[in-house]
Amino acid sequence: MAEIHNKTILIIGAGNMGISFIFSLIKNKFSSKKIIVLEPNPAKNVLNLKKEKKIVLIKNEEELSNVVQPDLVLLAVKPNQIDNLFSLNLTNLIKRSVIISIIAGKKTLTLRKLSNQNLNIVRSMTNTPISVGMGSSVVYFDQKTSPKAKKLSKQFLSLVGQVIEVNKESQIDTFTAIFGSGPAYIYFFIETLIKIASKNGFKKSDQMIIQLFLGSMLLMLDKREHPKTLRKKVTSKGGTTDAAIKSLISSDRFFKILNEAINKAKVQSKNLN
Ligand SMILES: NC(=O)c1ccc[n+]([C@@H]2O[C@H](COP(=O)([O-])OP(=O)(O)OC[C@H]3O[C@@H](n4cnc5c(N)ncnc54)[C@H](OP(=O)(O)O)[C@@H]3O)[C@@H](O)[C@H]2O)c1
Repeated sequence: MAEIHNKTILIIGAGNMGISFIFSLIKNKFSSKKIIVLEPNPAKNVLNLKKEKKIVLIKNEEELSNVVQPDLVLLAVKPNQIDNLFSLNLTNLIKRSVIISIIAGKKTLTLRKLSNQNLNIVRSMTNTPISVGMGSSVVYFDQKTSPKAKKLSKQFLSLVGQVIEVNKESQIDTFTAIFGSGPAYIYFFIETLIKIASKNGFKKSDQMIIQLFLGSMLLMLDKREHPKTLRKKVTSKGGTTDAAIKSLISSDRFFKILNEAINKAKVQSKNLN
């Protein structure tokens, strides 16, 4: 893994995801001087990182001529911001780099066509827990991807969490629906429990519900047991939890609701292509 720490990375777009990557890389002892960020409107924390950690921050295409050719490039702009992304300046700079796109819904072929060049583009999808080194990422390589590009991109994504490779690009849509959007499902579940607690007289129980989740997760990590095993340990036959779980399981209610929601996200991901 040491190899990756010597590389230079250009992050294009320092919004939610770009910033999460920058923080996670720095936390993982990636040299901040080897992080180049191209962002027209840098947020305050990015400006602070330039000042305090000496990341290289450039705000426009013209300044690209002042930077070294990066080994890796992370494309982290919104799907609707890619049309004019591959300027001649940028394309020249990154023509030998391994380019990892985390842009939702944009296929490798679309990106290759847009760049009008035979760039080393790798398609990935990830999620916001990368900022705490607990990300889940998927990576897809088409036939044009070199073994070197495969290795580097996997090493890079491993720095910020777990990585799996898929052999069909369409599986990225499924991954997006489960893992990309996943944090929002977890937060929504927490929100809903907070609402129910409040309706039942436990006002301002937000922190306690958050601790309920955190405590349960830490317990699961500590015990190294499957969630089903742990769930069964809390459920005595005929008891309170049993009544609640039976209601959720009845006619596969909970599964169906979640499955339907995830299918909607999958369709939406395909529509972005
Ligand atoms: N958010 C998630 O949970 C998540 C998870 C996985 C993947 N993704 C994907 O990650 C990508 C980024 O998402 P995000 O939530 O980080 O979006 P975001 O917060 O809008 O960040 C995108 C950033 O890119 C900048 N930008 C636009 N055009 C640029 C250019 N030509 N060169 C350099 N920077 C440019 C934008 O600047 P302006 O603000 O000035 O436009 C913005 O700061 C999206 O494609 C999304 O599909 C997101």
